[in-house]
Amino acid sequence: MDGSSLQTPVAKRLEGKVAIITGGASGIGQSTARLFAKHGAKVVIVDVNSELGQSVASQIQSEFKQPVTYVNCDVSNEKDIENAVNTAVSLHGKLDIMFNNAGIGSRDYEIAAIEHERFRQVMDINVYGGFLGAKHASRVMIPQKKGCILFTASGASVLAGTPYAYMASKCAVVGLTKNLAVELGKYGIRSNCISPALVPTPMAAADLGMNTKELEELGSSMSCLKEVKLDADDIAEAALFFASDDSKFISGMNLLVDGAATLPKM
Ligand SMILES: NC(=O)c1ccc[n+]([C@@H]2O[C@H](COP(=O)([O-])OP(=O)(O)OC[C@H]3O[C@@H](n4cnc5c(N)ncnc54)[C@H](O)[C@@H]3O)[C@@H](O)[C@H]2O)c1
Repeated sequence: MDGSSLQTPVAKRLEGKVAIITGGASGIGQSTARLFAKHGAKVVIVDVNSELGQSVASQIQSEFKQPVTYVNCDVSNEKDIENAVNTAVSLHGKLDIMFNNAGIGSRDYEIAAIEHERFRQVMDINVYGGFLGAKHASRVMIPQKKGCILFTASGASVLAGTPYAYMASKCAVVGLTKNLAVELGKYGIRSNCISPALVPTPMAAADLGMNTKELEELGSSMSCLKEVKLDADDIAEAALFFASDDSKFISGMNLLVDGAATLPKM
């Protein structure tokens, strides 16, 4: 018997859905763009890195034969976000999923060393950027009476001893997620966030000054799960769960994808 006839085709969990992914050029956002396209979504990648964003969009489009568009957008700029949402709607007629994933790190482990300008930049991108994404997505989703708003927070949202501006920003993202879940639930809009532990991405490499192998070793030393490594595809799978109807009654959640790293222990 031909072995291929025994293979079950992948069930497309986002067939016909339209998704915006901010920070989609790299790392977690790029993995999510690929997985969403594989599952039948029309994807709009939003980023400030035009060269990488364009090439990732065309690569994913040709791999999965799904429309993937790149829009240059600084998430902390309201006109840019407004334009990104309007582009998705004018191309595809609706917006089902807004994944507010773009973010930057900070290295301010000492309160005395914090400069206001850097603190403000982290808050502008990580918090205000997510707020703007939710604001303009809800403008489209409320009349649709459905939608999924998703954020990438961080293990730093529950773990002390992390950089100040970064932790403050990620705690704020969790608060934003919950408020949106309460306000927008009556329109059938769900709001959730994902909190990854250390994922080997360009951001983590730059923030910690480590290569991929060193990041994997550090991540593994923090995790209680020892036989597996966390990577960007694992976060993309969590995003797929929230974006699909598999999670249709889940809203207001901060899902830790951290191998129990952040649990209090004896
Ligand atoms: N890597 C980790 O260990 C880790 C852990 C927890 C949470 N996170 C969060 O995951 C998210 C994605 O980070 P990543 O690790 O994939 O990093 P990454 O650097 O690989 O990707 C981040 C992307 O965001 C884009 N970006 C930055 N500023 C932007 C702006 N103002 N507007 C639009 N795009 C912008 C970058 O160009 C980049 O493509 C971030 O919110 C980060 O805080 C990462």
